[in-house]
Amino acid sequence: MPSIVIVGVQWGDEGKGKITDFLASEASTIVRYQGGNNAGHTILVGQEKYKLHLIPSGILYKNKICVLGNGVVVDLPGLVGELEDLKARDVDTSNLFVSSSAHLILEHHKTLDALQEDAKGNRKIGTTRRGIGPAYSDKVHRRGIRVGDLGDPEGFRDRLDIQRQAFEREAPGVELDWDAEIERQRQAYQALRSQITDTSALVNQHLDRGERVLFEGAQGTFLDLDHGTYPYVTSSTPTAGGACVGAGVGPTRIDRVIGVTKAYTTRVGGGPFVCELTDSLGDTLVERGQEFGTTTGRRRRCGWIDAVMLRYSARVNGLTDLAITKLDVLDEFDELKICTAYDTPSGRTGDFPLDDRTLEQSRPLYETHPGWKTPLGSIRDLEELPKQARSYLDRISELTGVRVSIVSVGADRSTTIIIRDPWLDV
Ligand code: GDP
Ligand code: IMO
Ligand code: MG
Repeated sequence: MPSIVIVGVQWGDEGKGKITDFLASEASTIVRYQGGNNAGHTILVGQEKYKLHLIPSGILYKNKICVLGNGVVVDLPGLVGELEDLKARDVDTSNLFVSSSAHLILEHHKTLDALQEDAKGNRKIGTTRRGIGPAYSDKVHRRGIRVGDLGDPEGFRDRLDIQRQAFEREAPGVELDWDAEIERQRQAYQALRSQITDTSALVNQHLDRGERVLFEGAQGTFLDLDHGTYPYVTSSTPTAGGACVGAGVGPTRIDRVIGVTKAYTTRVGGGPFVCELTDSLGDTLVERGQEFGTTTGRRRRCGWIDAVMLRYSARVNGLTDLAITKLDVLDEFDELKICTAYDTPSGRTGDFPLDDRTLEQSRPLYETHPGWKTPLGSIRDLEELPKQARSYLDRISELTGVRVSIVSVGADRSTTIIIRDPWLDV
């Protein structure tokens, strides 16, 4: 039952898509377990760039099973559109399966997302406005509508009526075309009907057969509803435990948890960011790393790597391995910094503060490392990395207590250094 969870250990956009695509070549099944099309996972294969929002990053291989688990929120017409785009590029999408228990994102959820954001003024979260929060809210309120409910059109209408009443209580006077929505959902359901199933049964069968299963997290640890920088978080559970709930597998079936981190830190949207660089160094990271959001195009906030965050991530995810991406982005810096502790109003700490007021007032304590001033993009062996780069990686491993198994030095699938194959011994 070899299985690996891939989880972002910062604020998302760590390169999970690239690492998932890379490890998927040796897997049979790739499963998304939470989030929705707020995600944007980029894969580059030669000249071909793919930006996936809902579809797992295993779809580019023929004969791999891709799954949207019950924990995902699904914009069904959006999913059909994403599949059509891939089909137009000759990608075989017939192996994608969608959980009948996954909840639907409907138009009114997107409307509410925007209204709620606008009402927050300067405390806005900076959501992707994809309706994620409102769709998960309806789920928790126990008036959610699940993908499988579309198989019963009358029942769907009744359920939608309950959501409509709740919407009208929250947004009085806002007119929506509910009949058009019913028709959009009907058409999307017809297009996908044969691919909607009990995906927990499917994934468990694959595990029983000893096939390799990859669980692909979206967002990241610090966007987790419980463990992130609340309230500046998403509404799901990106941390590794979410894979069990969101895919319908037991915790005993997870063998390994790979935390994906950039060699520096980024965040898109509002909320505290202790190591943020608001000076020209931050601009250099934006430029060299091309730090613009895959889903919304927004400029990402940038800063040095933060070992306080990574240590916390190691704890809440039970990390067994780290994958460090975008090391090449640091190629031209004279020196690099790693944050090892925070100075907070109540003293110095190596533990990530849980409340946002302390976090807002925390200042980073850095240690400085020499840069390598050499392009890393063509390197494929650990031994060939300059010694400064190796000691940078070693220090991150030492500070987090987690071994570094994968290093990425470019966006392309091939630009990857394997230090230890995560599929070994699972
Ligand atoms: P995800 O959401 O975690 O899958 O990450 P995104 O795709 O949103 O953002 C990561 C960006 O960095 C994408 O544009 C990737 O193509 C790119 N990328 C991934 N790994 C590397 C790397 O090692 N070096 C460089 N230069 N770019 C990378
Ligand atoms: P991937 O999977 C980075 C951020 C938004 C916002 C907060 C809540 O590509 O790493 P939401 O729309 O989820 O209610 O927004 O979460 N956010 C992401 N940031 N990468 C993502 O996904 C994100 N998905 C959501 O910017 O701050
Ligand atoms: Mg992304």
